[in-house]
Formats: sequence, structure tokens, C-alpha cells
Amino acid sequence: MSLPQLCIFDLDGVIVDTARFHYRAWKKTAGRFGYALTPAQNEALKGVSRRDSLACILKWAGITLQKDEFDTYCDEKNEMYLHFIKDISPEDALDGVVPFIRQLKEKGVKIALGSASKNARTIIEKLGILPLFDYIVDGTMTTRGKPHPEVFLLSSNHLDTPPSSAVVFEDAVKGLQAAKKAGMFCIGIGKASELPFADIVWPNFGDKTAEDLARCWSKPLTV
Ligand code: BG6
Ligand code: MG
Repeated sequence: MSLPQLCIFDLDGVIVDTARFHYRAWKKTAGRFGYALTPAQNEALKGVSRRDSLACILKWAGITLQKDEFDTYCDEKNEMYLHFIKDISPEDALDGVVPFIRQLKEKGVKIALGSASKNARTIIEKLGILPLFDYIVDGTMTTRGKPHPEVFLLSSNHLDTPPSSAVVFEDAVKGLQAAKKAGMFCIGIGKASELPFADIVWPNFGDKTAEDLARCWSKPLTV
């Protein structure tokens, strides 16, 4: 069985269903300046950093803010988000994802996190799965957000693995673009119709096994 050397997991929407909490917090924030954020716009914000998300919403709303107001809105959004996620516990991991990661780890695959969130480590700790990760890249460590490949290349560099031997699991279009730019095989998690750029799409982890991954992944031909 041929498995990749490294598997990199996005967090929000792949390991845990926190996308709805980001949406709820941004919707309230946008409501404060009289703008109604739509589910389709929220889709476009998946994988986008906190500051870039606010910049997008302001652009859609046609609003300009002073830097201190911008910072205040970002901080308030994060306070709301932290309140929404305060009770996250191991039961909140999405179906099948933790057993899947455990199987890969037992077979010697290196495991990394590749998240745009500055709250990623806190959430991983709340889920009780910190020991499963060989390396964690979060929003505090990157200078350029997805779709830039930095978030994934940091892991492959740190773990001394060529990108062509890494697989990325992502639920966001921008994350899939980042994985392709990194030269990594990527598996979209969600609906195929909403995940262009994915090499293949799984609706969820369900009962997926290491054997399923070995059967479907391949080294990208071009890097
Ligand atoms: C990504 C989410 O994982 O993290 C985005 O998909 C979010 O919606 C981004 O904006 C940054 O998260 P945080 O927790 O640093 O505000
Ligand atoms: Mg995500």
C-alpha cells in the first residue's frame, strides 16, 4: 500500500464544524454597519484570514474604516467567535476524521495542520487531539493567506517532505488553490459542485480508511 509521507489537514470545516460560528460572528459584525452578509458571501470567506475577511465584507458593503475602527471590529468578531466555540469538546470533531488521522499516524504518515485561524491551536486542544500532530501551522505563523501556498509549504519544509508526497484535505476553494500552488495532491471535503481545483472530493470522512487514501491519491505530475 502506497501512502503519502505527509497529510495536512485544514481545521475549520474539515476537522470541526466551526464555519457556522465564523459566519454567525461575521453576520453580527456586518449587521453593526447595516450590511446583510449572505451565505454565498460566507462561502467565499472560507479559508480567508480574519483581517482579509473584514476587508472583503467592507468592500462588499462599500464602507471604509479608520485603522483603529478596523482593529476594533476584528477584535469584537473574534470575541464573539471565542464565545461561540467555548464549549467545543472531543465529541465535536466531524464524523470519522479523528479515527482516519489515527490510522494514518499508526501507519507512519506524518500529520500536520494547515489552518488560517489564529485560534487553531486552542481548538485542537479543546478537541483533545494535539498529540496526533507532528506540526501545526496556524494563522499566527503565515505572512500570506490562502490561496498563497505558504501555509502548506511551511509544514512540508519543517517535516522535510517533498510537496509531491503530501496530501491536503480542504473544504475551501482558496485552500484547494493553495494546495495546488504548493504542488500537493488535494482532497476536497464537501460537495464536488462547490470544490473546483480538488483532485478528488469526499463528501465527508465517514468510514474512510488509510486504504481508501492509498487507492485514490497519486503524486502530482507537475510541481
Ligand atoms: C479559517 C476560516 O480557517 O480561519 C475563516 O475558514 C477564518 O473563516 C480564518 O476567517 C481566520 O480565523 P481566526 O480564528 O483567526 O479569526
Ligand atoms: Mg476550512
